[in-house]
Amino acid sequence: MARVLVTGGAGYIGSHTVQKLLLSGHKVAVIDNLSTGFKEAVPNQAEFYFGDVRDSNFVAEIMSKFDAEVVIHFAAKLNVAESLLKPVEYYDNNVGGTLSLLKACEKSGVKNFIFSSTAAVYGDSCTDGIISEGTPTNPLNPYGWSKLISEKLLSDTGDLVGINHVIFRYFNVAGAAEDGSNGQRTANAYHLVHLASQAGVGKRQGLKIFGTDYPTPDGTCIRDYIHVEDLADIHVLGAEHLLRGGTSATLNCGYGQGYSVREVISSALNVAENKFPVEEADRRPGDPASLVADSRKMQALLGWTPRRNNIDTICRTALNWEKTLSK
Ligand code: UFG
Repeated sequence: MARVLVTGGAGYIGSHTVQKLLLSGHKVAVIDNLSTGFKEAVPNQAEFYFGDVRDSNFVAEIMSKFDAEVVIHFAAKLNVAESLLKPVEYYDNNVGGTLSLLKACEKSGVKNFIFSSTAAVYGDSCTDGIISEGTPTNPLNPYGWSKLISEKLLSDTGDLVGINHVIFRYFNVAGAAEDGSNGQRTANAYHLVHLASQAGVGKRQGLKIFGTDYPTPDGTCIRDYIHVEDLADIHVLGAEHLLRGGTSATLNCGYGQGYSVREVISSALNVAENKFPVEEADRRPGDPASLVADSRKMQALLGWTPRRNNIDTICRTALNWEKTLSK
């Protein structure tokens, strides 16, 4: 049993992780400013502290009071398009938040740190579509840069001041809790599976396919969709790895299996109650053709095996959650 402090624990991935930590017998405290998160997503068994991670004194106080052994840092802004419009806000939140948390760790003596990063750090530097952690990084937007700079802050200071750390680079996170208790609550989330689920319950007229002329088998972009509960399990294993004294690492999180936009939509239509129309549209700027994770390093280090690596499971759980929200 460990004492885990989760920043952004009221958000989509954070709240699923809090649930899995509790189920594994850990004690959890959450810090969240509820700017995009939802208090009701935080299980009652977790302590909840309303506040901003950029307030380093406040965070250090909670760390000491809760006697945290490991921090999992989710709290961040994560919309690529918004980051191009509000770059300063993104750097302030994401880089400033990470720096503030590091200061708090130093002050209160927390030695284990897990960081939420993203496949956006790779940009489109990968030509064959399979991305390992050794693939050169080349972010294409302030969001990706804010995560890469945060990674650097953590690995540099972590190595020098003795904060062991795991950096997880997420590919396309989707789906909802299999028991229907949790899911994506942000009404204006723009991700493909989420939009398809909204269309599937009739909250949206239909869906557009952004680009059908990519150099992929069916002409649409390929992504590696990972179920949010599998990703949550990975965080529990990451925390336990650090608490055992495991080495610091940067690890991709995905299944190593890609699905095209057409395949995702076809799966979403299979489970949909409302058989929504699909329209072919122009490419969305900045979309790489294919992003698939080589996650073998993560699997070997943490002993993780995928449990929900099925696009139908992802679309079904997302749709069921969307139905719950409609009630
Ligand atoms: N897409 C459509 N129609 C839509 C929405 C999306 O065709 O209505 C397409 C996109 O063009 C893209 C694919 O579906 O080809 C996936 O798009 P998402 O917006 O769901 O996800 P992205 O791959 O663009 O980005 C996500 C996260 C990023 C993260 C990245 C890592 O939003 O934060 O995965 O792979 F960096």
